[in-house]
Amino acid sequence: MTDHERPREPQNEPEHECQREPQQDPREYAIALHQDKVGATLQGEDGERELVIVGHKEVVEAAQNPQVFSSAVSAHLQLPNGLDGQEHQRVRALVDSYLAPEVVAEFAGKFAAVADEVVADGELMQDPTRAADVFAVRAMLRWLSWLAALEAPLLDWMERSEQLAAVKDRELAAAVAQEYDQLVTQAVAAAPKGSVTHHLAHSHDLEHAEIVSILRNWTAGDLRSLAKCIIVIAQGLATRREVQERLREGASAEEFAAIANELLRMDDPFVSNRRITTCPVSIGGQDVPAGQRVRLHWTGANLDPSVFSGFDSQAHADANLVWGTGVHACPGKELSLRELEAFFTRLLRDYEIELQSGPSGRSARRSPTGGWETTPVHFARL
Ligand code: HEM
Repeated sequence: MTDHERPREPQNEPEHECQREPQQDPREYAIALHQDKVGATLQGEDGERELVIVGHKEVVEAAQNPQVFSSAVSAHLQLPNGLDGQEHQRVRALVDSYLAPEVVAEFAGKFAAVADEVVADGELMQDPTRAADVFAVRAMLRWLSWLAALEAPLLDWMERSEQLAAVKDRELAAAVAQEYDQLVTQAVAAAPKGSVTHHLAHSHDLEHAEIVSILRNWTAGDLRSLAKCIIVIAQGLATRREVQERLREGASAEEFAAIANELLRMDDPFVSNRRITTCPVSIGGQDVPAGQRVRLHWTGANLDPSVFSGFDSQAHADANLVWGTGVHACPGKELSLRELEAFFTRLLRDYEIELQSGPSGRSARRSPTGGWETTPVHFARL
């Protein structure tokens, strides 16, 4: 693999990036723009201005035009997210070979076993957010054959990186990123022969930094994304009891995916990704120059009232942008849906998902980085 002309130092920004909206629930931010019929808007201080795109049509237009909306936005090595053109295609083909539907299907038994363990732990189930975090970490550890001893440091890392995403301390973020790279390096060194990690590390002539970047991308941001998805879906099912009952009766994998995708569309916890324009372009009524930083706001586009209305898992399926669109669309979709299905199938067998009203009727807090900051549901034993 060719050398990428990007520094190898640990990065201080999330690789599988979630939006860091300033202190605001990204849903509310986008809904307000939709009310004013704004498809794209320039935000931020001079010198750091970003074009935030929330209109569905405009987000699709930008995501499907990578020649104009380049992904080379970071000074750090991000494989494959930060690449364009043929370089992207080459790394993407490698990534896809590990995440193709038939490949991840082989892990269904492992994910079901992890779901069994988590749901059988009555104490853990008292805290749905913690249960979601533990499930996300353990499912990943089993998929990649990482040491079980990494569970505690990974859980700790998830918590700290979530806090960091909210406060934006670049120095601290760099230190936490470096710690993460050390965890990955440890995992690679201990990976047993025949495992996904061992295969990735030894079969493609990758440099160490490239292996770490790919694994960081599969794990760091996505543990959080997956855990957030669990809570968003749980909240959606607690709000729609008939849908919860339908899943409890035993839905097919396709039906589960359609319902999960629609609930995630309505409250997309994977908020946005960045681009940079390669030439002057007009989008959403805005004329922008070459070199303009752009944010594709998936959460916003998924709430565009000119495209979506209410809950409709069939009618909204084609326009759903939870997994992105275009050449960078999420290769981890199938893996994520398998994990989510394993968790909810097992959960719904033993538990009812109910909205959390709390002892004082206090409602849960939304997170400025997408999804929920405090737990909106509780699990009640059937
Ligand atoms: C759990 C919920 C997840 C959501 C909602 C999600 C969503 C997305 C979205 C919207 C993109 C498009 C980014 C862009 O256009 O710039 C993306 C890209 C990507 N996702 Fe995910 N993702 C999830 C989980 C995962 C997992 C578990 C993995 C890997 C194991 C993964 C690996 C990737 C990679 C490698 C890319 C970059 C692809 C490229 O640049 O070609 N994702 N994801």
